[in-house]
Amino acid sequence: MALIDPLLLNSRLGSLAGRFDVDALDTCDSTSSELLRRAERGAPAGSVVVADRQSAGRGRRGRQWLSAAHESLTFSVLWRFTAPASRLAGLSLAVGVGLLRALDKLGARDVFLKWPNDVLLRSGNDSAKIAGVLIELAADRRGTQVIIGIGLNLQRPTADMPQAAAGLCAAMPSPPERHDVLAAILCALADIFETVAADGFIALKNEWQSRHLWQDQPVQIIAEEGEPQAGICRGVDHDGALLLETGSGIQRIFSGDVSLRPISNSQAMHGS
Ligand code: ATP
Ligand code: BTN
Repeated sequence: MALIDPLLLNSRLGSLAGRFDVDALDTCDSTSSELLRRAERGAPAGSVVVADRQSAGRGRRGRQWLSAAHESLTFSVLWRFTAPASRLAGLSLAVGVGLLRALDKLGARDVFLKWPNDVLLRSGNDSAKIAGVLIELAADRRGTQVIIGIGLNLQRPTADMPQAAAGLCAAMPSPPERHDVLAAILCALADIFETVAADGFIALKNEWQSRHLWQDQPVQIIAEEGEPQAGICRGVDHDGALLLETGSGIQRIFSGDVSLRPISNSQAMHGS
């Protein structure tokens, strides 16, 4: 039997239980791929697939998401917006705000956002990734279909990662219970979806910036091609674009194929 029991989860969702239809699997390739297939067969908004194990968990840009059953929570949520995809820019950041609201409610400390799609745990001057968000949009007759994939480490992953990773347990005094965590996130997402549908990401921008790990800090943007761009991170625009202050003014950076990294003040002054 899967680690998530939908009946137990529904009891934690309370009045929101009717908004989500949760299917818990032992294993699948990727909860986002599985939900995409179900969406193509007409699955309704609010469908959720959660799996203990993924054989092909995906991150952004074809990267892998690595997780083990007892260490993590991996799930995807199907939602539909009447707005066109162009009005949903910033959704990945909005989901990040929802994740932090949920983690705060569960009692987590020192969790922050990293543009565009990560949740990090800060420890002194270091930080480690505890969650990632993968958003996949598709236009359909009814507007825009969105599959939101979330991978959250409950424990520090045992797999080797190219960058530091941590578990939610390190942010909380006692280990989180997975049904509580999933229910808190789904409740927070229901709220976020309403806000985004009504007002767009701009309504959440200040909240996002207040939890941005490198707000007003020196950072660099690394693209797959070309030189890294250094500057001071001035937060995000109404559509979720990152604002980078450089010698030639404020640059708007779109999340496509770039990575954000912190750098020292002297590196920022010398432009690399
Ligand atoms: P950036 O967005 O700056 O490029 P990133 O390294 O977080 O940063 P993403 O594409 O957002 O890249 O996320 C995928 C990456 O997440 C993988 O390449 C891997 O380094 C990392 N990763 C995979 N599984 C986990 C996990 N369980 N916990 C933390 N990090 C993970
Ligand atoms: C990232 O950091 O790049 C995003 C990682 C998203 C991982 C989750 S795990 C559940 C869902 N299924 C997937 O294959 N990916 C997302």
